[in-house]
Amino acid sequence: METSVIEKSNQKIEVLSDLEALSHRAASIFVSASRNSIAAKKRFAVAISGGSTPRRLYTILGSETYRDQVDWQSVHFFWADERCVSKDDEASNFKMAFDAFLSKIALPEENIHRIKGEEAPDKAARDYEKEIRRFHGGSEWPEFDLIILGVGEDGHTASLFPGSKAIEETIRLAIPVYLEERKKNRVTLTLPVLNNADQVLFLVAGHSKAAVLSEIFGEAERRKLLPAGLINLVHRNMVWLIDQEAAGKLRGS
Ligand code: 6PG
Repeated sequence: METSVIEKSNQKIEVLSDLEALSHRAASIFVSASRNSIAAKKRFAVAISGGSTPRRLYTILGSETYRDQVDWQSVHFFWADERCVSKDDEASNFKMAFDAFLSKIALPEENIHRIKGEEAPDKAARDYEKEIRRFHGGSEWPEFDLIILGVGEDGHTASLFPGSKAIEETIRLAIPVYLEERKKNRVTLTLPVLNNADQVLFLVAGHSKAAVLSEIFGEAERRKLLPAGLINLVHRNMVWLIDQEAAGKLRGS
């Protein structure tokens, strides 16, 4: 299958055959974004997500083929969100990334800026905010070079869920979120931080995402109720990598 690409203003939507093709495409975007950023700013600050979709990308980035294509000394990893568990817990987003690739690449330990899920949620969020400010400097909104996000079946992204007060946050960089249905705490970057990234890369795969994607790319009224639909980088780059199953309900897919 050929990749179909739709470009509209600052948004590029690429439909790929399956998760494997999507993950390789994402790896190549990661490599070129890292090179551009390191050439321009001498650093590449990335915030990554958890969930099942990016795991294959992370494994590819840690593989022999890709390992040497990135100047890892200049790459700094942050997280878009974290579950409030210890860093050894199977649910930890840090653990997933560490096992898949961070443990396999030549990354200095101080380039890992994780959210301390083992702390009380508000403290973890405030400490994380301090760390982001220390790294980015100044009091303005931090500008990540790349943020990798996923989309939940309900339209959540990072740990910003539909109907949650967290979406309205306009001051803090990171906040705690309590998920009533799952009885779980998480910490997430806030919408203004996600929207201030230089580039956002969405990875979406599988049949179960088809309905929500058709809403995200559908009517504005519905879209704005979905956190993933609220990511709108004006004058910056947003790339959606979607597999054929997830693109099943998109018009013209
Ligand atoms: C997490 C996330 C979350 C995720 C979506 C999609 O920690 O779970 O960061 O926002 O990206 O839920 O998850 P899947 O990739 O598993 O579909």
